[in-house]
Amino acid sequence: MVSRFSLSATGSLVFGPKELSNLPRLVSLRGFSHLALVVSPSFQRSPEASSLFLQLQAMGISTSLFPVSGEPTVEQVDALATTVAACPADAVVGIGGGSVLDTAKAVSVMAYQARFHGSVSVQRFLEGVGDLPPPGRRLPLIAVPTTAGTGSEATKNAVIARLGPQGFKKSLRHDAYVPDLVVIDPTLLVGLPRGVAAASGLDAVTQLLESYLSLNANPFTDALALDALGRAGKALALVLTTHAGDVGLWGDLSYGAYISGVIMASAGLGYVHSIAGPMGALHPVPHGVACGHLLAPVTKALVREMELNPKAHVVQFEKLDRLAGLWEVEGPQEVLVFLEELTAFAGLLPLARYGFTHAEIPSLVESAAQRSSPVALSKEILGGILSKLF
Ligand SMILES: [Fe+2]
Repeated sequence: MVSRFSLSATGSLVFGPKELSNLPRLVSLRGFSHLALVVSPSFQRSPEASSLFLQLQAMGISTSLFPVSGEPTVEQVDALATTVAACPADAVVGIGGGSVLDTAKAVSVMAYQARFHGSVSVQRFLEGVGDLPPPGRRLPLIAVPTTAGTGSEATKNAVIARLGPQGFKKSLRHDAYVPDLVVIDPTLLVGLPRGVAAASGLDAVTQLLESYLSLNANPFTDALALDALGRAGKALALVLTTHAGDVGLWGDLSYGAYISGVIMASAGLGYVHSIAGPMGALHPVPHGVACGHLLAPVTKALVREMELNPKAHVVQFEKLDRLAGLWEVEGPQEVLVFLEELTAFAGLLPLARYGFTHAEIPSLVESAAQRSSPVALSKEILGGILSKLF
């Protein structure tokens, strides 16, 4: 029996090397004449950007360029939305990593709001801290990822931060926010700085693994998760070690990140994301770095707890066996070794370097939640994991 599940999927997806060159044609087919381009500074400087601008110009499509960096904040989204609302843009295009795509997504919503209903801060629509339901309308949105990580190009939410002691990271979320068109061009990822590739790739692998082992996994998410996880895990290990220039591997990683975005809201995530979120609000640690540090030890603890009652977790052990086959290792224990090696290859900065201290462990343990994890982990286990990481 297929159990109850829901899904919000991308309108159109174009995937393949050099597909960015098709973007002007796709934009023209949709009748857009002025684009608000929200881009990362590294894309802005790239030869692909120069060629895109020339192509758009040649087709009579004008642009307003908005370079953005860092994870989106309330202030940044509010300011950018006001500017975009005042320019003649009939669509927003985000080209960059997960933070750039989240910024573009939030701006497509808030610029529409400002243009047609008057300015209001995005904070009022955020889950948990806002006082208004998120609006269901936005400007048309096109997403072009240049990293393989959050899967923002496929999700219906944007994570907006406010840093500091009263800080938060909260979602602007609505079914209507899944981008209308996604263009995934793996050639844009070749040459990605190693640290960015490692952190974003570990986020994608974490999202896939948490969705795959989730109590709320369903046949749809399972069918996509296993293949994507097999590809993404192997590809990440190879691009971080010996094959950084292999477009095919960046394609596998990009595909994995996209699929993680498609399935994670449907299947649900687990302990790693329940802890990584509050960590990101405490200190400016990149989301993928927090996930990367937690992925191996949390998964190890989950497997250890499931082994105490294997009959109740037959499904998860079978899944780990299938994953082991794709990663060409022997069984669940070697899946754990593979994850540890992946983290080691990544060479993530220690969490203490971002300012984390042992004094913060109790509050992080308190905010941790089982979510869709297949088994509960005690506060002692979670505290033990964090004390080795800080
Ligand atoms: Fe994530």
